[in-house]
Amino acid sequence: MATLAYAVRRKGSAVDFVNLPVDSPAVFSARGLPAATQIRKADHLRVCLEEDVQFQATTGLERYRFRHCCLPELDFADLDLSANFLGKSLSAPLLISSMTGGTELAQTINYRLAAAAQQFGLAMGVGSQRVAIENPEVLPSFAVRSVAPDILLFANLGAVQLNYSYGLAQCQQAVDWLEADALILHLNPLQEAVQTRGDTNFRDLLGKIGQLCRHLPVPVIAKEVGNGISAQMAERLIEVGIRAIDVAGAGGTSWARVESERASDARQRRLGQTFANWGIPTADCLVAIRQAAPDLPLIASGGLRNGLDVAKALALGADLAGLALPFLQAAADSELALQELVETLSAEIATVLFCTGSAAIPDLRAGRLESVAS
Ligand SMILES: Cc1cc2nc3c(=O)[nH]c(=O)nc-3n(C[C@H](O)[C@H](O)[C@H](O)COP(=O)(O)O)c2cc1C
Repeated sequence: MATLAYAVRRKGSAVDFVNLPVDSPAVFSARGLPAATQIRKADHLRVCLEEDVQFQATTGLERYRFRHCCLPELDFADLDLSANFLGKSLSAPLLISSMTGGTELAQTINYRLAAAAQQFGLAMGVGSQRVAIENPEVLPSFAVRSVAPDILLFANLGAVQLNYSYGLAQCQQAVDWLEADALILHLNPLQEAVQTRGDTNFRDLLGKIGQLCRHLPVPVIAKEVGNGISAQMAERLIEVGIRAIDVAGAGGTSWARVESERASDARQRRLGQTFANWGIPTADCLVAIRQAAPDLPLIASGGLRNGLDVAKALALGADLAGLALPFLQAAADSELALQELVETLSAEIATVLFCTGSAAIPDLRAGRLESVAS
């Protein structure tokens, strides 16, 4: 029988997963039967939390190091971590990357993440809202504005859905439901290719993305899911009206590995393994896109695991740095673990500022980072 991983009790401080039947009333609302999309969303959380789904290849950030400053001439207490993205102020240049929604566990996680984002002044994205478009009963799992009225908040849909009957109406709905500041369109050809019965018709999407950018009243952001965006593709996306890019490069969570773990047939499993380390490393995406588009609002993500990674990504040209898996793990643990993570990341970023003689985030770009000779 198909099962869903669902958190029903706690052992110590960690969420404990048990398998419940997919039609368990504890998992689904009274009316609806579980849809395939809901099962997939629950699977993604379980696989990401229980299996090793990280790249074995790296982000490329290890090829850079900050030049240490032995006399910063700064008071640590005065360091300024604040940032601005798409016109909204943030207390730190941190984004809780798009992850989840559509199940009760996803709801708990989204609300915890949103409360932390509100408390610490961070940005946040929700996971793909396709599950709610298909079944509006799961809308509460995305309704995080109630606990995060002030944050920079991103709606999320797969760009490929524009080839599967989605259009302006569905995108507008995703934004309205969230009262979102912008819509992220994720680009995930490898994930769809590895997924059993994935949506693999990516033909003629650029024009449809352009049309959406022209008509949606909020900015549209293009994002990968961990395989990176090249400078050439970034230029084409900017040409059609994309207002910001999240590189979501290689080196962190590998969606080929996630889908390989979930695959029901041997060929899809092997496909996922073969392409487990496919993609453009996060650092390479950042350098190339920043060079091609000096003024583009740019988000770094994919394999950022501590505040030093974040600071390097900012020094390479990012305006905002997103983490997915680390925030998921902390949120699945406890609210306290989440607060601890944010405070640790902030302390690490501040330490980089201090030890490079940088008073504020923009100073990181002033030649503080050097390539490590290989
Ligand atoms: C459990 C989980 C679910 C995700 N779902 C989405 C999604 O619905 N939409 C999206 O754009 N990215 C999604 N992502 C991708 C992340 O936003 C991010 O791009 C990727 O995981 C790389 O970041 P990381 O290495 O910090 O995990 C998901 C990631 C995780 C861990």
